[in-house]
Amino acid sequence: MRATVLGAGSWGTALASLLAGKGYTVTSWDKDAAVLDDIARNHRNERYLPGLQLPPTLHASGEVAKALEGAELVVLAVPSHAVRPVVIEAKRHVHAGTPIVCVAKGIELDTLMTMTEVVEDVLPVPLHPYLAVLSGPSFAKEVAKGLPTAVTVAARWERIAKQVQDAFHTKTFRPYTSGDVVGCEVGGCVKNVVAIAAGISDGMGFGANAMAALVTRGLAEITRLAVRKGANPLTLSGLAGLGDLVLTCSSDLSRNRTVGRGLAAGKTADAIQRELGQVAEGVRNARSARELAKRLGVDMPITEAIYRVLYEGLAPREAVTALMMRETKPEL
Ligand SMILES: NC(=O)c1ccc[n+]([C@@H]2O[C@H](COP(=O)([O-])OP(=O)(O)OC[C@H]3O[C@@H](n4cnc5c(N)ncnc54)[C@H](O)[C@@H]3O)[C@@H](O)[C@H]2O)c1
Repeated sequence: MRATVLGAGSWGTALASLLAGKGYTVTSWDKDAAVLDDIARNHRNERYLPGLQLPPTLHASGEVAKALEGAELVVLAVPSHAVRPVVIEAKRHVHAGTPIVCVAKGIELDTLMTMTEVVEDVLPVPLHPYLAVLSGPSFAKEVAKGLPTAVTVAARWERIAKQVQDAFHTKTFRPYTSGDVVGCEVGGCVKNVVAIAAGISDGMGFGANAMAALVTRGLAEITRLAVRKGANPLTLSGLAGLGDLVLTCSSDLSRNRTVGRGLAAGKTADAIQRELGQVAEGVRNARSARELAKRLGVDMPITEAIYRVLYEGLAPREAVTALMMRETKPEL
């Protein structure tokens, strides 16, 4: 099997390494020539996964046409804001029948489309049935180390979900299939916004009660948005919903949680992201998720509060008070 991974950051490289470790011939492509050079020459990616030795069957190319030559599986692992330009660049070189696995998590700011909606907007219709989403609780660092991980692979066409499941399945990486593409996408994207809230809560020393409330009420608003977009509510209690939410809210490996902790310490989102040197999707997606919720008439108070902290200068403590003082109502 020949696979191409577009995006050689943390997640792209962890997945490329997994596939190459199965004996597949894998090519990573990225706009960052230094990262590609490190992969090609040293079989390492010190910028994004320091200390990790990559398999010799993982190659690198900065030319999209060359990288996609003969690809039987394409993985789209750039940040959400780069998905449209990357797919525009790649589309001439992807053939019908090749599964395209989107692992980017986000809602496009201008169009409020999910990532597969963006990809479908760019790709010709005959390629649409071959699209899949891989999502769930999966920190790149842990997958790269071969630690046990379970994820969801969703595709409209069961055959494609199964094909992608088989391609990624190893003794430490277990994908489950699903037909609920939109449920997986909304779960994977909005949990990053709730993780910022979790980081703020922890940073302010609010304790375990507050964290449990945030995860639970966060899941409630994620589910409302997903269902409004046509998702099965049960998807949101699975790996791509609750699973990913718990992971992102509770671990210090989460960049979005780190953003929240930084905000609680009085830093700006820009400064925190500069320190991170990597994407924290929740910052951009607080804006797009909030816009989408407004457009669809869905109540998302935690997302709204995080949006106001990030973009309107609301003090994190005031945001928490505003959430607690909302009009009282039944839980369900
Ligand atoms: N890191 C994780 O553990 C993880 C897990 C699951 C999903 N994701 C999702 O995967 C996506 C990528 O995240 P990441 O952690 O790998 O990000 P990252 O910041 O580690 O790397 C992003 C990579 O994309 C490249 N890139 C950016 N814009 C590009 C463009 N226009 N053309 C070509 N390459 C471009 C960068 O050079 C970089 O190599 C995000 O949507 C993220 O939410 C990440």
